[in-house]
Amino acid sequence: MTDQQFIYLDNNATTPLDPAVIEEMLPFLTKFYSNPSSGYGFAARARKAVDLAREQLAAQLGCEPSEIVFTSGGTESNNAVIHPALQFEPRGKHVVTSAVEHSAVLRPCQDLEKRGCGVTFLSVDQNGNVDVGELEAAIRPETALVSMMWANNETGVLFPVEKIAEICRRKGVLFHTDAVQAVGKIPMRLRDTAINFLSLSAHKFHGPKGVGALYVSRRTRFSPLIAGGGQENGRRGGTENVASIVGLGKAADLALKYLAEGKGSVRSMRDRFEKAILESVSGASVNGSGAPRIPNTSSLSFEEIESSAALLLLDRHRICCSAGSACRTGSQEASHVLRAMNPNGDGARRSLRFSFSRFNTEREIDRAIEIVPKAIEKLRQIAAPQTVAAAT
Ligand SMILES: Cc1ncc(COP(=O)(O)O)c(C=O)c1O
Repeated sequence: MTDQQFIYLDNNATTPLDPAVIEEMLPFLTKFYSNPSSGYGFAARARKAVDLAREQLAAQLGCEPSEIVFTSGGTESNNAVIHPALQFEPRGKHVVTSAVEHSAVLRPCQDLEKRGCGVTFLSVDQNGNVDVGELEAAIRPETALVSMMWANNETGVLFPVEKIAEICRRKGVLFHTDAVQAVGKIPMRLRDTAINFLSLSAHKFHGPKGVGALYVSRRTRFSPLIAGGGQENGRRGGTENVASIVGLGKAADLALKYLAEGKGSVRSMRDRFEKAILESVSGASVNGSGAPRIPNTSSLSFEEIESSAALLLLDRHRICCSAGSACRTGSQEASHVLRAMNPNGDGARRSLRFSFSRFNTEREIDRAIEIVPKAIEKLRQIAAPQTVAAAT
């Protein structure tokens, strides 16, 4: 959409900025550059803009503005909850999470392990579902925190986080969800849930990069990971990234409107693409097809191809997609998410993720439906002589 030559189907990696978001941000990069904490009248404009963004985001999440802490993005929000888990009193010796989390949860959990904290990484079934009974059984008297993602970044599979949060409340354990891939894509009313913490990131729903938020329910005590000048009501130090926060607020507002309109164009584009590929390509299947999924993600597995080769070929046809998460692109390691779903299969090496947004067009979907099957066919043809040679 930003570059006419490319068909951008990698919206789980990042999304294009909505032009209305840029317009809203610009005055805070030019005219209204004051520090929102300053006492003079000139600073009031920046302060009010940050307040408005907090209200816009709260409206989208269905929570109170005071429950929002602006951060530098999803990674910081996750770290801000997981790192202090050892200090949670009287518990604080054990954490439960899943094996399919983003590295922004897995890495801080591994750090906790190094610091002597027990961590249970729950496995998933072949559809990417977690067993809620198993999760409940994993909670121990010394468990401080359960952290389960809302939507998986690779497959789009949704975990039943509201149900899990209820279990945690009953057991007196704090519950955090990495909702970076869910916010802006599905409606939320956090005030009706038992979720204590939720992480989100603006660049996944047409806002700027490097800004996000942590929802901290007002029932929940929270001590800051980043201490400093007392900003964000003492919950996150550092001068506010005003223009980006304004952009986050506007992006949240636009996402809320898109969801309220209920047109579902993203879902229908995703479904049309998926159906066409499954019909035209033999040996293709949808990862997580048996689970509820966010409407924009299609993770497809193709027999007899290597995803790294497919990515190169599709790139030549100017289709942007990925083999798993963007963070793994360039790495030789196959997706930990797909391996967890199918430990004995090789689907992790044969999968491609296509993720859509409201900025994609039906024409782009038509083009992708034309190009992807041809690319898969070509890769299979290239691979076939080697198979014959190997057999002789
Ligand atoms: C599920 C999930 N969590 C966390 C992150 C990290 O967010 P950020 O890029 O804002 O640090 C991502 C980004 O890809 C993600 O998909």
